[in-house]
Amino acid sequence: MSAPVFEACDVGAALRQGIARLSAAGVEAAPCDARVLLAEATGEARSRLFAFPERPLSAAERAAYEGFLIRRARREPVSRILGRREFWSLDFAVTPDTLDPRPETEVLVEAVLARLPVPGAGLRVLDLGCGSGCILLALLSELDRARGLGIDSSAAAVEVAGANAAALGLKDRAAFQVGDWAGGLEGRWQAIVSNPPYINDSEIEDLAPEVTGYDPRQALSGGPDGLEAYRVLLPQAARLLAPKGLLALEFGAGQADAVQRLAEAAGFGVQAVLSDLAGRDRCVIATPFTRG
Ligand SMILES: C[S@@+](CC[C@H](N)C(=O)[O-])C[C@H]1O[C@@H](n2cnc3c(N)ncnc32)[C@H](O)[C@@H]1O
Repeated sequence: MSAPVFEACDVGAALRQGIARLSAAGVEAAPCDARVLLAEATGEARSRLFAFPERPLSAAERAAYEGFLIRRARREPVSRILGRREFWSLDFAVTPDTLDPRPETEVLVEAVLARLPVPGAGLRVLDLGCGSGCILLALLSELDRARGLGIDSSAAAVEVAGANAAALGLKDRAAFQVGDWAGGLEGRWQAIVSNPPYINDSEIEDLAPEVTGYDPRQALSGGPDGLEAYRVLLPQAARLLAPKGLLALEFGAGQADAVQRLAEAAGFGVQAVLSDLAGRDRCVIATPFTRG
């Protein structure tokens, strides 16, 4: 029988040991991650871990914390260990089939909300490559009379998105289905949003272990130049977007010019290119181009 790693110990000691182990494994935010994992293992609020460092850990809490630390030291992201990720202040279930929603993507949500006309009934939002459903469901949580459809090529991701819609009380206004971008879709949409895979295939292996080891490949792979998905979905979006509709696309580092050119070639006028909190160009907003 192997010896327990944490002998009878308290919160303060468990945190110190956890931070040391995660730091040694190269985890950047070791103090924050150790605290989140200890809070999960003990069921305590993080603030109480600060306030009561002398609180003893039970054997079950030590075992749970130990298991979490082993996984995090192997560079599994905290969100995947917990099975959930906060996005737009909402809780989303994430699984090995979904991209771990990134805080940068909130820029896209914010940009769409700031530019949509006052939402009336009948506003329809299409999310291409919906993953966990985070973009569409964040938008619908703010637009209380809008409806939306999320498309993903992964049936497992579509299932997770549907479960997230139900958990957030949005299933009456959000539908999710398997598809190849917008192929085969009809009708008019007032907003089309997408965070497609945009990593250049030759660069995927250089990403952090948290990404290469845990995000699904089909959520990352953008082909030889990272732009394959835009070439397919932009002409489809041009066909489906309502005349005064709004297109919002996320893109990766160094892709702003190329994505703008592809959008213009598909018949869009670019309204804005927005940066994320790190100051990196992250999202393009476009509307159908009208002459005269
Ligand atoms: C970068 S992830 C974005 C997921 C989610 N929208 C988010 O922001 O967290 C891209 C998504 O596109 C999906 N995808 C890849 N190829 C696709 C295709 N041909 N048609 C539809 N979805 C596709 C992937 O399965 C993945 O869920």
